[in-house]
Amino acid sequence: MTKAIILSGGWGTRLRPLTCTKPKTLIPIVNKPVIERQILLLKSAGVKEIVLAVSVMDDVIKNYFREGEKLGIKIHYTGEKHPKGTAGAMKLAEDYLKDDNFFMLNGDVILNYDMGEMLKFHEKKKGIGTIAGKTVDDPSRYGVLIVNNETHQLLKFLEKDEYSPPNGKIVPMPINAGVYILESEIFSFVEPNKKVSIERQVFPRVANEKKLFYYPLTGIWNDVGKPYDLLQGNILLMNDLINKLDGKVKNLIDYSANIHPRTEIYPPCTIGENVVIHSDCKIGPNVVIGDNVLIENNTELSNCLIYNEVYISNNVKIEKAIIADNCNIRENVILEGNNENLVILASYVEVLNNLELIASKTISLTVCHHEVVNESMK
Ligand code: GDD
Ligand code: MG
Repeated sequence: MTKAIILSGGWGTRLRPLTCTKPKTLIPIVNKPVIERQILLLKSAGVKEIVLAVSVMDDVIKNYFREGEKLGIKIHYTGEKHPKGTAGAMKLAEDYLKDDNFFMLNGDVILNYDMGEMLKFHEKKKGIGTIAGKTVDDPSRYGVLIVNNETHQLLKFLEKDEYSPPNGKIVPMPINAGVYILESEIFSFVEPNKKVSIERQVFPRVANEKKLFYYPLTGIWNDVGKPYDLLQGNILLMNDLINKLDGKVKNLIDYSANIHPRTEIYPPCTIGENVVIHSDCKIGPNVVIGDNVLIENNTELSNCLIYNEVYISNNVKIEKAIIADNCNIRENVILEGNNENLVILASYVEVLNNLELIASKTISLTVCHHEVVNESMK
């Protein structure tokens, strides 16, 4: 096994407006695109070649990774003019992948575990496929795995709307984590040149043939389907990265960051390259700041993601928010989410002085890219 395919072609509609200007799989997770994190994990499990199955905004992804030179791994691309579905996309990569078994990943899941262990498990079971699963409290948003806990055989694969909980009562279940190891026989289950879903049209048939297995995923897992998942996923990974370091490290702060001694950092926080934070600010907990961000005096940030090249002026308060690249937040501004509803500013948004943007209890407050906000929104 030296190869992998990462599905990177969906629309990311639930993450709009962030995905209007950036494909979902390039959205940063603790300051690295979600698929870059996956590529690095695959590389440490011995993978040497990766196919990125791209479709929507493919040029942006290709420009970012090129042929993999920066990451030290060979990257190929397959393209679909119109998305061909998860199995359709895999089928297009058959020529790259058919010589051996391979990893396949949904490009929108956050992971941090030893993928080599999963490969050992797969090779022992000798099936056509192994699906990594994670037990979650509410399985209704995911593909549900009905498994034999002793043999780890997957008895049934039920995609989202195909599963109804027993007596209508939601109980924790293992769900499809979007990480697979597949043998090349899998290609014979997919008709070429068609839109085919691996979850709905392929896995149920392989499970019927008793050739599909379930690997309980160890370590963290989160998908980045909705903005709140994105915030939670960042916090989860940040904590995991910090926990794996020397016990004294509480934050991930780049050496080039310049933080005024009168500013306080409440862990866990991540602060990227060339960030400048002036005096009397309170940063954290649960804050991820990208590169080249400037924050002026007396500003407070908690539970938020600030991407790259953002400017935040004096006396700003940001809580439960996602601020995309190149935003400009002027003085005395308050941005405040409400429970799982966040304030989301897409790239290049400017918020003028003395305004309050407060999310409601029922829906996130979003501002499209390049807009200038000149009145409060509550
Ligand atoms: N190339 C390509 N072409 N990629 C695609 C296509 C396509 O037609 N459709 C989806 N993808 C990619 C998406 O970019 C994403 O990385 C991944 O495949 C999964 O698609 P989503 O649209 O995010 O699916 P989901 O989150 O609703 O459900 C899937 O993921 C869950 C885990 O997060 C399913 O696999 C579920 O069974 C699973 O539980
Ligand atoms: Mg998804």
